[in-house]
Formats: sequence, structure tokens, C-alpha cells
Amino acid sequence: MHIDILTLFPQMFDSPFSASILKRAIDRKLVSVSLHNIRDHTHDKHHTVDDYAYGGGTGMILKPEPIFETVESIKSGYANQESSQSPVILLTPQGRCFSQEIAYELSQCGHLILICGRYEGVDERVREHLVTDEISIGDYVLSGGEIAAMVVVDAVVRLLPGVLGSEASAIDDSHATGLLEYPQYTRPAVYRGWSVPQVLLSGDHAQIAKWRREQAIQRTLERRPELLDKANLRLEKRQLVNRLKKS
Ligand code: 6GU
Repeated sequence: MHIDILTLFPQMFDSPFSASILKRAIDRKLVSVSLHNIRDHTHDKHHTVDDYAYGGGTGMILKPEPIFETVESIKSGYANQESSQSPVILLTPQGRCFSQEIAYELSQCGHLILICGRYEGVDERVREHLVTDEISIGDYVLSGGEIAAMVVVDAVVRLLPGVLGSEASAIDDSHATGLLEYPQYTRPAVYRGWSVPQVLLSGDHAQIAKWRREQAIQRTLERRPELLDKANLRLEKRQLVNRLKKS
């Protein structure tokens, strides 16, 4: 996968891309990321990227020309057919709310173009004539789309084949199953008098699997009951949910 990111602050991406899973994925060439400074695509002496809003109001609006030209310069490096398929995603609080499902959807694309909004807004013509999708990472306001783009890149890249050590580790994740993850323990078996649940030490893999499934459901019911309505539970799980709800 290749990811192009348009931003006014490319340096913000240095640390998340130089550590841990993202760094390893880049080093192993499972993904490549190019940062494009929108300011490099201005033509005036002051490298102007924003301007006052027509109609008045406080706050500066990102101008359309540098954004269009940056995306066009990226696409010109691709065959026409190839680049016309690539999603051009604006990170904005007005977008559809990012989820594990959207992360899966994006992980199927060979190429993503992410545009980080800034200041009080982006000229509407960017939305209307350049962008194919708009994503928000939640109902709160960030000063710009950069951190949201990092969130999207992280969630997508860890789904790419070969990025995680074992393929199974993404399958059990919270949200991948539609349920929150079950409680996890490691050594020591007793810490400050607090014991690891006996079943996990039993070596009985069927019992362990059953316990984990029940814990995942119980935890989801307690913390995020709305997820259970969406999760595609088998009969056995639905019965457990009903029992837990009654008790
Ligand atoms: Cl994508 N951008 C900004 N500025 N704020 C946000 C967001 C994005 N998602 C949630 N809040």
C-alpha cells in the first residue's frame, strides 16, 4: 500500500512513523508513506495557503489551489486508471465516523490520499470536486486533521498482511469481533495477593476459550451495550447475553 498525506505540518508525522509497528511496516516495505507540504504548491511570494472567509466571520479558510495542485501532482505520478480509483480522503470533524469497519475497507485499497484540514475550514470546492470521502475520528474538535490521519494510518496499516507478528493478533482485537477484548494476564500467577483466574492456568483449552468468550460478552454488555446490538452473535452467545442481562 502507498499512502500520500497532504499537510501543512509534515514534521508532526516524524515520531509516529519512526517507532513500533508503523516503523517496522515501512522498513519491511509493506507500506510506504509520502508527506506533501501543501505550502510547496503555492506560487506567491508569501506562500499563502489560507485566506479570509467570503461573507465574513473569524478564522481562515484553506485555499483550494494549493490543495488541488498537490493532489494533481501526486496523481500525475500514477497511471490514469490507477489513480482514479484511489480514495481522496479529507480528515474533518464533519466526516463519517471512523471505525474498525472503515479501517478494513481502507486496508483493501492499494493507494490512499489523505488531506489534513486545518484552521477553521477548507474551501468547499475541495469537498465538492476533489475529495471522494470525509472521515472524522470522533465527536470532539482537534486543531487539525494531522492526528486524525495518524490514527487512520495506524489502524489501517496494522491490518495489512504481514504487518503484525501473528495474523491471529488482529482477529481477536477489541472491535474486530464486534466485542471488547477479554481480560488478559501474564506472569506472575499471584501478584500482591491478586491471583490470575484459575481456568487460565488449567491447560484446558476448551474451557479457556469458553471463559474468554463469556468475559468478552460480559465486558461488552457492561461497558458498551450498544455494540452487542450490532455484533453478529451466534445463538449460544445471545443466550449468554440474555442470562447476564437478567442476573
Ligand atoms: Cl478528522 N479533524 C479535526 N480537526 N477534528 C476532529 C477530527 C478531524 N475528527 C475528530 N475531531
